[in-house]
Amino acid sequence: MSTLQEIQFSDAIMSRIHEYIARYPEGKQKSAILPILHLVQDEYGWMSEPVMNKVAEILSIKPIEVYEVVTFYTMYNLKPVGKYKLEFCGTSCCMLRGAENIMDYTLNKLGIKEGETTADGLFTVTRVECLGACGYAPMMQVGEDYIEHLTTESIDEFIESRRNTVK
Ligand code: FES
Repeated sequence: MSTLQEIQFSDAIMSRIHEYIARYPEGKQKSAILPILHLVQDEYGWMSEPVMNKVAEILSIKPIEVYEVVTFYTMYNLKPVGKYKLEFCGTSCCMLRGAENIMDYTLNKLGIKEGETTADGLFTVTRVECLGACGYAPMMQVGEDYIEHLTTESIDEFIESRRNTVK
């Protein structure tokens, strides 16, 4: 069954998509896939199959080519996530500086397992590869912010402050 009819991107999104595609030579429209995926993820929150299929249709490529990109990069969400996605670096420098313990502390505090989202829809916790801030280990990325030199105290503060924003 085709799912291509299930999603219609807004005129505003289509306009941005065409801007991205126009940056590349004719026939090389696939090169615009990363910013297009960011754009539609901002709109829909995650990469559902109908969304990915629609991107494939627009770029005149096979859906599998979109799935390959989406499943390769951890910045694309394969399922709905919380308002705050805590992406803990799990690579060498951060691990040597206690990232595993900080992540375990966070998961226990939130009552979820890695990859899960809290019942209130606020927090998702994931593990990612090096985020290029090794000198500030242990660290995590939340949206466009890097939160560095993590401690259990700074995790407490972070969670409390974000919870307060929705009270
Ligand atoms: S090892 Fe964690 S940011 Fe590089």
